[in-house]
Amino acid sequence: MFKGLFQTRSKAKNNIVMDTNGLDMSNIPRHIAIIMDGNGRWAKAQGKVRTYGHQAGAETLKTIVRAADKLGVKVISAYAFSTENWKRPVTEVNFIMELLSRYLTNEIDEFNENNVQVRFIGSREGLPDIVKQKMDHAIEATKNNTGIILNLAINYGGQAEILHAVRSIAAEAAAGTLDVEQIDNKVVESHLYTAGLPAPDLLIRPGGDLRISNFLLWQIAYAEIWTTKVFWPEFTPDHLVEAILAYQGRERRFGGLVDKK
Ligand code: FPP
Repeated sequence: MFKGLFQTRSKAKNNIVMDTNGLDMSNIPRHIAIIMDGNGRWAKAQGKVRTYGHQAGAETLKTIVRAADKLGVKVISAYAFSTENWKRPVTEVNFIMELLSRYLTNEIDEFNENNVQVRFIGSREGLPDIVKQKMDHAIEATKNNTGIILNLAINYGGQAEILHAVRSIAAEAAAGTLDVEQIDNKVVESHLYTAGLPAPDLLIRPGGDLRISNFLLWQIAYAEIWTTKVFWPEFTPDHLVEAILAYQGRERRFGGLVDKK
């Protein structure tokens, strides 16, 4: 069971601060990316329409952001709508757009009460005006919040993001404001939608598929990946703790060697 975290921290003998879930509080992933998959299959298993699953998935996101914040996570990037999701039936696309619009209206108070800052990544092209307005409003209304960042990926594709960055870098080079020799990782990163955010340390994919699905392609270069067959609507804070425990058991080498002396 997900336990009240900060009230119950204890100091283990090796001086690592553990909480009662067994988490090492000095090694909490700063940024967790989540591919919220399995909504449709979960709904079908309940004998409901797919959109019922998206509605439940939006509730799960709220719960997980709250739990992640308590654990000390600084950023959650959640894949709400991909550039490929336009291929879905128009009724489902419309439902998700309405759900987003409602979510960004109804949750503002909750975001502010919990000091959550909302940001977005993705292209605005093709999004309904109402969704764009709600996005702008959510950014403005939560911009001074200093707690966890909820980074929602809407009309997002990793390849499209890299393409967008390449185009703007090329335009600057062509205009003579950027020297080609100066283009390095930092320059590329500053042209991505995620500019200013740390790269994800952990990528969580519920729903049983073992794919990246065009999510944060550049940024997850060294992220640890954790998957579960559990569908997103039934994903709980306990699963989050399980994922972080697995993360803490990994040895991150970033391409180097670990000194075994
Ligand atoms: C993938 O499940 C999920 C999506 C394409 C949409 C995710 C959207 C939400 C969780 C709700 C909207 C979010 C907010 C913040 C309001 P799937 O439909 O592919 O499931 P399946 O693999 O079982 O078909």
